[in-house]
Amino acid sequence: MTITITVRKTGSLFISAEDAPNVRLVDHEGNPIEMPAEGKPIALCRCGASSRKPFCDGAHSKIGFLAGDVARAVADQQG
Ligand code: FES
Repeated sequence: MTITITVRKTGSLFISAEDAPNVRLVDHEGNPIEMPAEGKPIALCRCGASSRKPFCDGAHSKIGFLAGDVARAVADQQG
């Protein structure tokens, strides 16, 4: 079984609904974290602004989060 995690350009780490049933999410001590809903995709926050961590709540768009490669490209364009 291969699980695909998509690194979105300006937001979350996305796990499709198809892959979600095979994902087990745990905290730093190995305690299980309740999944949002069975059969639904999972979006994990990587911007740090979500109020529902470790899940994305869309706050990345409010803070203008840019992933490293996007931020680098923007910086290169600005000189
Ligand atoms: S990546 Fe979406 S809220 Fe952080």
